[in-house]
Amino acid sequence: MSNVILHGHSFKIKITASEINKAVADVARQINSNLKDKKPLFLAVLNGSFMFASDLMKKIKIDCEISFIKVASYEGTSSTGSMKELIGINEDIKGRTVVIIEDIVDTGSTIESVYKQLQELGASEISVATLLFKPDAYTKSVPIEYTAIVVPNDFLVGYGLDYDGLGRNLEDIYVLDYKIEENK
Ligand code: IMP
Ligand code: MG
Repeated sequence: MSNVILHGHSFKIKITASEINKAVADVARQINSNLKDKKPLFLAVLNGSFMFASDLMKKIKIDCEISFIKVASYEGTSSTGSMKELIGINEDIKGRTVVIIEDIVDTGSTIESVYKQLQELGASEISVATLLFKPDAYTKSVPIEYTAIVVPNDFLVGYGLDYDGLGRNLEDIYVLDYKIEENK
């Protein structure tokens, strides 16, 4: 299979669409079984999770709702450091079983922040479903309940993940192969 070029870098296939599909089906199976009768509210974190969320939801067969959120990062005061504010929550979270849908958990800083804010909003049960998980980069303690694919600490693009805005539309997942242009 041929490489793709994004911003002057060449990426090679790492995980095929068919492997992704199998892994997503496995996560869906676990959720269908674990959250039966819980009427979960899925909250997909945009932009990266859009493709995973769509494919996952087609395989969820229990009563559920889905909504989409964003995490806006901004600099707080020197004592609060960098803040990540949840935007787009219109639902009443109190007492709900919530499943956060993420494209990738890397250091875990994003997911920890989303998790804590949902706790503050009164969710009764929160779990995380991520397409990709990098355990070697993870520094937090939020439990990652559902992982489709565990990956090493490489930079990946495709299937929702971007490299500086490009590559989200690719149906497979790619890893950096080599750099073509030195001055990009
Ligand atoms: P964290 O807060 O360090 O866990 O990083 C989470 C966010 O960083 C993800 O939602 C992605 O937007 C981005 N990210 C982390 N690793 C990658 C990668 O390998 N490719 C593309 N984006 C990534
Ligand atoms: Mg993301």
